[in-house]
Amino acid sequence: MRGKLSDVLKDAEKSSGVEPSVCKYEEHFKNAKRGATENENSDYKTFNDLYYDLVTDFYEYGWGRSFHFAPRVPGESFKASLARHEHYMAHALGLRPGMVVADLGCGVGGPLREIARFSGAKIVGVNSNAYQLEHARRYTEEAELTHLAEYRHCDFLHVDAPDDSFDAVYAIEALCHAPDKLSIFGEVLRLLKPGAHFGSYEFSLTDRFSAQDPIHLKLKADIELGGGILELDDRQTIDSALRTVGFEVLRTQDLAVPTGPSIPWYQPLVGSGISLASFRSSRNGRLVTTNTLKVLEKLRIVPQGSVRVLNKLNLCAVALAEAGRLGIFTPMYFIHARKPK
Ligand SMILES: C[S@@+](CC[C@H](N)C(=O)[O-])C[C@H]1O[C@@H](n2cnc3c(N)ncnc32)[C@H](O)[C@@H]1O
Repeated sequence: MRGKLSDVLKDAEKSSGVEPSVCKYEEHFKNAKRGATENENSDYKTFNDLYYDLVTDFYEYGWGRSFHFAPRVPGESFKASLARHEHYMAHALGLRPGMVVADLGCGVGGPLREIARFSGAKIVGVNSNAYQLEHARRYTEEAELTHLAEYRHCDFLHVDAPDDSFDAVYAIEALCHAPDKLSIFGEVLRLLKPGAHFGSYEFSLTDRFSAQDPIHLKLKADIELGGGILELDDRQTIDSALRTVGFEVLRTQDLAVPTGPSIPWYQPLVGSGISLASFRSSRNGRLVTTNTLKVLEKLRIVPQGSVRVLNKLNLCAVALAEAGRLGIFTPMYFIHARKPK
């Protein structure tokens, strides 16, 4: 069960001290550049890690233990829609008992545990953020799933595993944090056994995005800063990177484009919300949380800098909702590819 916000944030204080971290994050974000070599650009790793040190408790408080969006149908609860989106991935990749599968950028393991239970496959969660892994391991023990779930603390660009070691690899809204698609897809190809499948829900700009439109550009920049992302890609870049590294592309589809009655993926960010979880992530919920946090920060009940972190997340939430409404961005560009035999 999620605790009170003040309790949750005490964990953040233990990790490193929020105020200096948020300043460091802003500094690293300014310095990190796309196109630089990994050595030149170690900043991207630092800001990614700092970002998740800072925001994990807010994510768990506002969203739950699966840190992603989902397509939803009328009458379906928010929680059920998240699980269905996770099952969809497992089903598309044909996950089943006996398989060993990697989940790249596994968060606190919400999707991993759901997919392990649903498919019976053993899932290895890869995450560069130690704070999240600490939570993931604890929740996995509580769920008595340690026989189907394992975690590795490493960068998904250099996974601590030999070539050809996985029966499948998937990622859920995580590979946007890689500095570019060629390096991350190259690493996925290395990890997969010949003939094995790869699936990912990618953050992507859509064809409606215009690099000439200042509003589009501002929304893109806010998502990047508030989301800890170096640069958002478009679907052409994603598709072409898959082919360039040697994947056979089986299917790509923006799952945010409705095929029947649907509730937009960004609705939990704007709606007033009926459940407590959806209220917390909604516009009104964020306002209440921010005001409460301001008081708690003044009283020194939560660490100094907490409001600044929340403001970053709010910036991202507002930009995501507006980019979703304009149809210029999707968090669920589904890619399904196979490593040639
Ligand atoms: C938006 S969260 C999604 C988490 C999870 N897939 C889920 O849906 O709950 C992105 C995740 O990617 C992880 N991540 C970011 N950069 C990474 C890297 N270089 N190596 C490994 N994990 C990374 C973050 O720590 C975070 O857990």
